[in-house]
Amino acid sequence: MCRYRAYLLLACFTLLITPASVLAAQPLWETCDECHGTDGMGQGGAMVPVIAGIPAGHIEEAIFACVDGARRCVREPRMRETVAALSESEVAEVAEYYAGMVRGSSREAFDTDLAAEGELLHQRHCSRCHLAPDDADVADAVGIPLHGQRREYLRFAIEAYFSGNRESLLEEMADQISSLGPGDLGALVNYYSSYRSAE
Ligand code: HEC
Ligand code: HEC
Repeated sequence: MCRYRAYLLLACFTLLITPASVLAAQPLWETCDECHGTDGMGQGGAMVPVIAGIPAGHIEEAIFACVDGARRCVREPRMRETVAALSESEVAEVAEYYAGMVRGSSREAFDTDLAAEGELLHQRHCSRCHLAPDDADVADAVGIPLHGQRREYLRFAIEAYFSGNRESLLEEMADQISSLGPGDLGALVNYYSSYRSAE
């Protein structure tokens, strides 16, 4: 009898709490998962970046840049529509959710010689602001991590700044990007693609 009552109580409790929590929490990242994947690695969708394990502040900044048009999200208008529908606190919530995930590297292919060339370019022009995801100071860095990002997306993003399709939020980054030659872009992409996370 006692056990029966316990089951009843449990059933009631489940009925009471499940619909509310499911309705409140799931839709926020269910839509994101369709493209970015349940592990936040963006595998399987061309041009979809890794967002798992990126510090929350950088994720929020990227979302707001997308909403206000500084990043035009050229290939995917739906990404912008989805994030534009979120309130500020919802943006903070999804950012925390993806920031809390383990970030693997996307294990992209790379050319060793070009990667070595790219490393020098990175150190000279980009390393002040862009730290690797496993760097202890990555959350406080000025820019979002580029190491281990998906290759196709990274090439698109660097080219977008280079050609002016994306607006650099900081003049210093605009200056550094414009000091590159077209061949340097490929070297940088190969360097960032050569990164492998610790696990
Ligand atoms: C239709 C597919 C799609 C959906 C849905 C989507 N995204 Fe994206 N997301 C993309 C693509 C593609 C990009 C690259 C955008 C670009 O610059 O064109 C991107 C970029 C991003 C970035 C920038 C990453 C970086 O490295 O700068 C963040 C953060 C992000 N998405 C988070 C989200 C969140 C959170 C949601 C859900 C609320 C979401 N996305 C929904 C496809 C999608
Ligand atoms: C003064 C700091 C600074 C320097 C130097 C800098 N960046 Fe950035 N970078 C940023 C910030 C801040 C963002 C995020 C805001 C934005 O979209 O402009 C960013 C964003 C990016 C993105 C978008 C990443 C993504 O996931 O969508 C790429 C690609 C990028 N930078 C490449 C570079 C490269 C390549 C260099 C060197 C040639 C460089 N940056 C130098 C600050 C910097």
